[in-house]
Amino acid sequence: MELSDDYYNSISLGYDELYGEEQIQKLDFFLNKLSDLKYKKSSLKILDFGCGSCVAIPYLIDFLSKKSITKIEYVGVDNSKSLIELAKQRLENVIFEIDFSYKLELMDAVEFLNKNKTLNYDIIISLTAIQNFDLENFIEDFLNKINLKKQIILLSILNRSQTIDYIRNFFIDVFEMDSGIKDDYFYNCITDWSQ
Ligand SMILES: C[S@@+](CC[C@H](N)C(=O)[O-])C[C@H]1O[C@@H](n2cnc3c(N)ncnc32)[C@H](O)[C@@H]1O
Repeated sequence: MELSDDYYNSISLGYDELYGEEQIQKLDFFLNKLSDLKYKKSSLKILDFGCGSCVAIPYLIDFLSKKSITKIEYVGVDNSKSLIELAKQRLENVIFEIDFSYKLELMDAVEFLNKNKTLNYDIIISLTAIQNFDLENFIEDFLNKINLKKQIILLSILNRSQTIDYIRNFFIDVFEMDSGIKDDYFYNCITDWSQ
C-alpha cells in the first residue's frame, strides 16, 4: 500500500498513537542485531529516510549512548510537513546523556539523494518508509551511494506493499533479510565496526 504525503499530513496528530509502539518494536528488531557489534567509534552520523515524527529515534540514540558513543549527529528526511514538525518538537524536548544534534529536512527522499553525491553517514536507517518512495529513482542511486563495509544499514519495508517484490529484487542480494509480521527487514551484519 503506497500512502501519499497528504495521508501522512492528515494523520500526523494521531501518528504516534496509531503506529508508535509498532515502530519502536521494529527498531528493536535491529537493536537486537546490533547487540554484538564492537563499537570503537565515539561519534556517529545517522541518516533516517522517511523519519516521520521520529517516534523510535530516541530509543536508537539511547541504545547507542550506552555503547561508548559520546556524540551523535542525526539527519531525518521526510516529505510530510506535519510529521517533520512533530519530529522537531520531539527532538527539541528529549534529553540525551550525550552530545546530540539534529537536522530535519522537509523534502522527498529522491530529492535528498539527488542533492547528496555521497551519503557520508555511519548508520542509515529507514523504518517502514521506502515502499512509498519513487523507487525507480531511489533504489539504484541509493545502492550506489552506500558502502556496506563501512556503514550500518537498517531498512524495514512494509511487506504488504504493492512495491515489495520490486524492492526485494534489488535488496535480496545486497542485505541480510528477515520477514516480520508487517515488515521485511533488510540489514547488513557488521560485527567489527572499527573503521
Ligand atoms: C509509516 S511512516 C514511518 C515513519 C517513521 N520512519 C517511523 O518509524 O515512525 C512512513 C513515512 O515515510 C514518509 N514518506 C513517504 N513518502 C516519502 C517520500 N517520497 N520522501 C520522503 N518521505 C516520505 C511519510 O511522510 C512518513 O513519515
